[in-house]
Amino acid sequence: MAAIVDSVRAFFAPSAFVIDAENPGDVVARENLLDRTMGPDRRRKSSEKLRSGRVPAAGLALVARDLDGHVIGTVRLWNVEAGVNHFGSPIDALLLGPLAVDPTHEGKGVGGALMRAAILEANKREHGAILLVGDAAYYERFGFFAAKAQHLVMPGPFERARFLGLELKDGWLEGAAGILVASGRKFGAASELKAA
Ligand SMILES: CC(C)(COP(=O)(O)OP(=O)(O)OC[C@H]1O[C@@H](n2cnc3c(N)ncnc32)[C@H](O)[C@@H]1OP(=O)(O)O)[C@@H](O)C(=O)NCCC(=O)NCCS
Repeated sequence: MAAIVDSVRAFFAPSAFVIDAENPGDVVARENLLDRTMGPDRRRKSSEKLRSGRVPAAGLALVARDLDGHVIGTVRLWNVEAGVNHFGSPIDALLLGPLAVDPTHEGKGVGGALMRAAILEANKREHGAILLVGDAAYYERFGFFAAKAQHLVMPGPFERARFLGLELKDGWLEGAAGILVASGRKFGAASELKAA
């Protein structure tokens, strides 16, 4: 009974976190969070080749904060070219990741809130599609499926079943084939972080 009362209370409780734009003061907390959640190998991932030395897509570096303002979750999206279409033209898209939530706050909807906020913002900014590498069992609930990325490849080792796509505009990834290439602005002055 106590467990049921607790879960009902949790359901009606006001959110204990907010989703916010990342700012330069969040970088250290974000990197510490990623080290804790993803481990030391996180920089060896193929996705990292598309992020390294680049600034995230404008307006698409988000954090979740607890009510004291501490960073408890992070997600960023990056500009890429997702192969070419039937006419041989490069397809602009976003690569999402890493998504991570502080282990002490897992299972409270923080990851879902970050995902929905990121998708909403990407839509507002008129992007056509989002790609990511992750567990389909988690990301399918947000509309990501392997079929959308079936003829695309990451610039390094990846598991085909974990390479997923979401179209924000119908048919955006139709015929998309080839290797992902970084297309975001190169990381330079600190002012670029603010602009992102
Ligand atoms: C994956 C992660 C971002 C989820 O964050 P979260 O705030 O706990 O997620 P939410 O509270 O929004 O959602 C929790 C739900 O997702 C499910 N879930 C979490 N990780 C999952 C996974 N890898 N596969 C399938 N389902 C998963 C939980 O079981 C839970 O299910 P329920 O709603 O049916 O109870 C977080 O666990 C994390 O940071 N993990 C380590 C980093 C990582 O692996 N990131 C990439 C994910 S592929």
